[in-house]
Amino acid sequence: MKTLLQTLLLLCASALAQAATLPADWAKWTSVHTTLTAIGALPDCSANVSKLPPIYQETVKTYCSVRPGGPGKVSILVRPEAMKAYSSRDGKFPDGADMILHLIDMKALFVTTYVGGKPTYNVFTEDGHDATAASGPLAAATCNTCHTGYQSFCKNGQCGSKK
Ligand code: HEC
Repeated sequence: MKTLLQTLLLLCASALAQAATLPADWAKWTSVHTTLTAIGALPDCSANVSKLPPIYQETVKTYCSVRPGGPGKVSILVRPEAMKAYSSRDGKFPDGADMILHLIDMKALFVTTYVGGKPTYNVFTEDGHDATAASGPLAAATCNTCHTGYQSFCKNGQCGSKK
């Protein structure tokens, strides 16, 4: 029999991994320039990132080993309807998939989708297959630790800002 705590944890996990779909027109979304896109790529684990803000150091630490040589080239795409919220960082995102971190070399998309105004996280392949993992770097709970956990840096799921 499951304990109450286990049941609650399961409920949380399923809420975080809420079924989301990748909009077909994602590649036409607005490409934005940020601190990360200025760096251009996520490096491998040997990179010296000590001069970057702590959340960026943690991002490199979390993702540097998902692929030999590091995740590689990145771009950030924002759904046109979500640009107002993204630019102003007011956290008022319209429901639906709104922001993508495109790992170009990995052909993977990190997608933030809003449900009732709150962010949920998924990983998709470029052709829209949901590749979100149950645990580890590609799990929604891991996305959540930064995007929702770093309150001082991220605003209602948005970590980066337009440069
Ligand atoms: C260790 C911290 C960390 C984790 C874990 C993390 N991210 Fe991020 N993410 C960031 C930071 C920092 C940025 C902003 C980079 C920039 O543009 O300068 C970012 C950017 C993004 C963006 C672009 C919009 C934005 O918020 O600025 C999306 C979309 C995104 N991440 C989705 C995800 C998803 C989905 C996951 C889980 C699979 C994930 N992230 C895991 C730190 C993290």
